[in-house]
Amino acid sequence: MRRGGIPRIAPSILSADFACLGKEVERMERAGADWLHVDVMDGHFVPNLTVGPVVVRWLKKRTRLDMDVHLMIEAPEKFIPAFAEAGAWNITVHGEACADPRRTLRLIKKCGCRAGLSLRPRTPIQKIAPYLGAVDTVLVMTVEPGFGGQRFMPEMLPKVSWLREYQRRSGKKFWIEVDGGINTQTAPRVVQAGATVLVAGTAIFGQPDPKRALHQLRRAASSPVL
Ligand code: DX5
Ligand code: ZN
Repeated sequence: MRRGGIPRIAPSILSADFACLGKEVERMERAGADWLHVDVMDGHFVPNLTVGPVVVRWLKKRTRLDMDVHLMIEAPEKFIPAFAEAGAWNITVHGEACADPRRTLRLIKKCGCRAGLSLRPRTPIQKIAPYLGAVDTVLVMTVEPGFGGQRFMPEMLPKVSWLREYQRRSGKKFWIEVDGGINTQTAPRVVQAGATVLVAGTAIFGQPDPKRALHQLRRAASSPVL
């Protein structure tokens, strides 16, 4: 799950300059990002709109980074085949947006992608338990989904520990990904709780020197909480 105990970093393009997205993504790859996080919003599940499969398809031509597509949309099954065909590597859906999460996860796998499940902050983590045998990734929202640049919600840390503990007891393996408000202050706390993938928008794309920002975030993520 971890590379030498260091969590993976997935910069979120939500904080990129969309007028030159290709260059932005190349900049992230050169800086040493592990995954590329693509936030997809439909204006219904969340009060914001972003990108569709066409953007993933064009980005795929510009980068070798694995594309981690976070679908914050209602009825995600309608768009899963299109995102998979466009080049998504991991597709994460929200449990709250699926009529039958198990069927949706199965569809993601059938389309050849890793399958992820996420929950809004107010949804209890226990709700995810029935699906943990079918996931490659669990995405814990540490802000209300919809916008970058929000404050980290520390009350989400027990969800991360719960998942880590579940893995210890069950032996099941999946990525524990955290999304929202991750920076050099919050990274050590989520990693200590058990996170193995850190999504970061503002803390990476928002910085003039992403290589330095990634390095600082990695260093913070591997330092113990005081
Ligand atoms: C929010 C998105 C996040 C967002 C994180 O709904 O899912 O991926 O880009 O942005 P920061 O790191 O700025 O909180
Ligand atoms: Zn996201």
